[in-house]
Amino acid sequence: MKATKLAQGVYWVGAIDWNLRDYHGYTLPGTTYNAYLVVGKTHTALIDNTYPGHEYQMMERIRDIIDPKKIDIIVMNHVEKDHSGALPGLAKLLPGVPIYCTEAAVHGFRKHYDTEGWNFQTVKSLDKIDLGGKTLVFVEAPLLHWPDSMFTYLAEDQILFPNDAFGQHIASCERFDDELGKEASLAHAQKFFANLIVPLAPKVLKKLDEVTKLGIPISMIAPSHGVIWRSYVSDLIGAYVNWCKGVSKDKVTIVYDTMHHSTDLMAQTLAEGIMAEGVAVKVCILRDGKFEGNHRSNVVTEILDSKAVLIGSPTLQDEVYPTVADFLSYFHGVRPGRLAAKKIGCAFGSHGGQGGAIRIITDGLKKAGIEPVNDGYELLYKPDSDELKKCYALGQDIARRVKAM
Ligand code: FEO
Repeated sequence: MKATKLAQGVYWVGAIDWNLRDYHGYTLPGTTYNAYLVVGKTHTALIDNTYPGHEYQMMERIRDIIDPKKIDIIVMNHVEKDHSGALPGLAKLLPGVPIYCTEAAVHGFRKHYDTEGWNFQTVKSLDKIDLGGKTLVFVEAPLLHWPDSMFTYLAEDQILFPNDAFGQHIASCERFDDELGKEASLAHAQKFFANLIVPLAPKVLKKLDEVTKLGIPISMIAPSHGVIWRSYVSDLIGAYVNWCKGVSKDKVTIVYDTMHHSTDLMAQTLAEGIMAEGVAVKVCILRDGKFEGNHRSNVVTEILDSKAVLIGSPTLQDEVYPTVADFLSYFHGVRPGRLAAKKIGCAFGSHGGQGGAIRIITDGLKKAGIEPVNDGYELLYKPDSDELKKCYALGQDIARRVKAM
């Protein structure tokens, strides 16, 4: 197995997980667990490692460059198992090897593994280690993704290793952004951001500002998942700033499920009203008997750059449809209302008795930080022509509000 060179003495030695399809409730076309080897004149460091079960790929790629026993420094940017799964094996192979990490990470590792005899070296922001012509500088980044997280910066080569930040979940033969292509790289980064980073967005914005103020040049961003950014670094940082701020398009995402196609008819008609006002719309059914439907993680990706979200459900035994309940639970966790720019929303659906789904959805919108424009629109059984006219008018109203935002 081959390592990939980033710069003189700097290599990607990670693992490709071609088969992963679900992670954190997120659907994905595989991923990579990126690990990096930095070979200085006096020391060799391994930055991060792999999910348990993927150590073999990493060790073989390291062997492509050096004997793994020559690693004399381990840097752990993050405790989570997708980056630390090989650590017990490495600690056995390299007894007493110093493991550089934050203080919070030491606590995290002790909760994950039997760390008896492990040589932790705790670091704080701007602490450095010299590998001989290669200087690693650490920047604590608590809660990006866990309290233990930190970034590592390789000064001479201007490479930032920010772990989960700037990552993408994709398994591919391409290692760099320009090989995968700008559009695809940014699209995968956007999905990663929409699902995993939105809850952390205020902290990301603060950290970006802090790193900018340090005045350190960044030529390459080497995250712990997906492709390495070398050609589109400024596009990526610009996109991150916009996503963190909640910069959105004149776009509405409609997400719903349907029992007898009444809520479906409402969704289609709302979309027509929105389009009639010249506003973009994305219609996402959650489940479909004929087609695949839309996974919750793809729907929240659409919501990231939408100004409005409409959620529809039939009422089933006084509750929302099970797929809508699943979506609302995930949506609450992501909570796009945390982003600086506000989003508006509305509930809709049909029922066969007393109704009630729109109350649950309207509460759900509020819980996710979305401002409902009304109490929702609910109708009995199948929409008649007057009710469809109301749906169309509601779509137009939402679109006009979007244009005014
Ligand atoms: Fe990729 Fe927080 O782990």
